[in-house]
Amino acid sequence: MKNQHTRFWEYFSKEIYGKEVFTSSQENLTLEIDQQTLFETVVKYCEDIRDGQWGVRLYVGDEALLDGSGLGRVEAAKQYFPNKNDGSFEKYHKRMTSLCEEYCLIINDPERIDYKLFQWCRSFLTPLFKNHGMNNIGIYNALFVGNYRKTNFGVHFDAESVFQIPVIGQKSMRFWSAEYIRENPELVDSTEYEDHLKNSVHLSSEPGDFTYWPKKAWHIAESDGEFSVAMALSLQEYSDITPYIVNNLLLPQLKNSREIHDQFELDGRPGDDLQVKGIPFDAKNLEETATQIPETVDKIFSKLQALTGSDQAKTLWLKILSSFGFTTPPELDTSMKFSPKNIYHIDIKYPVLTHLLSDNTRLVASNGHFFQFTDSPETQVMINTIATTSTLSGNEILLLSEHLDAETRQAFLDFLCASRALSFASATSAQ
Ligand SMILES: [Fe+2]
Repeated sequence: MKNQHTRFWEYFSKEIYGKEVFTSSQENLTLEIDQQTLFETVVKYCEDIRDGQWGVRLYVGDEALLDGSGLGRVEAAKQYFPNKNDGSFEKYHKRMTSLCEEYCLIINDPERIDYKLFQWCRSFLTPLFKNHGMNNIGIYNALFVGNYRKTNFGVHFDAESVFQIPVIGQKSMRFWSAEYIRENPELVDSTEYEDHLKNSVHLSSEPGDFTYWPKKAWHIAESDGEFSVAMALSLQEYSDITPYIVNNLLLPQLKNSREIHDQFELDGRPGDDLQVKGIPFDAKNLEETATQIPETVDKIFSKLQALTGSDQAKTLWLKILSSFGFTTPPELDTSMKFSPKNIYHIDIKYPVLTHLLSDNTRLVASNGHFFQFTDSPETQVMINTIATTSTLSGNEILLLSEHLDAETRQAFLDFLCASRALSFASATSAQ
């Protein structure tokens, strides 16, 4: 007989997901989010904020000190960041209320440095994926900390399904249907909606519950000024995923190459290949010029072709699947090095995944990170064993990988540890 948890997710996937706003009762969250680890993650995030890369947004009173568009006011914002001395969310809040009346700190992608949170999300989402399938495409978290009374950018909608998971305090949301907003466009981006309360749905949840809304639900967060910490686990549901693929597959590579080139130019020492040459142009015979695609244009299209071949589609899919859909999976922990003396635990529910590429290279993906080597039958046995055995000793792993040359072997085994495919279970007695 199916248990209550299984029945709930079958019902939720069929009747609620993508369709209705919803609040779950206590029994459907089987795991708690560890508050203290989350606090340490937030502190680390705020310490590491740099180059606009890491998403921290901060609103104090009516001021947007960090609105996600740059770091212009990061110095002014720093005094409002949580720090180690605060020690906990509650103590941080106490300090904040001595500095200001109302604030909201938002951390984007905390899973990037919080593997436990990533694991939590993976367990939470697994029954949904089993029943409904994966979302289309891309997942991220945003953590909201503060006592603000309303979302300061007003009533809005996002192209994503959101699970709002309170960690401390109560969270309340107000919703309107897309149809109602179409008839009442003055509500868009507004924080004044008293005349529309009777046409809204109001949902609250506390730690242990969650609130869900589909992408078509217009919403605003409300609060009575009490302190809360809540995670918004957002599942993008784009009907056209081209922008996602372009942003995540093509743009980072192209942007990187442009920046390198610009840097050479700025340094005043462009190499020969960066000298800008004239494009061939025959004024007397433009018909002939039309048949000659300039080398500079041709080169770009060859490059784009290489970035969009079938190997690239395989690679992107492996990245998405091994990250469990998360756009920024946990970073590699390079302090974790392989040791033959250790016993390793392997979570075979989330195994290393692999594809053979067209140049006979085997691509191995673990939690969103890659390793590549030349394929061989021994390599396949090794990968298969690592994907399907829940405990292996360091010595067993060494034996499985002895066909690799020493340098590749060390790098691969360290990669398995840094990406948490192998997690340290215990050390054998040193002999
Ligand atoms: Fe939103």
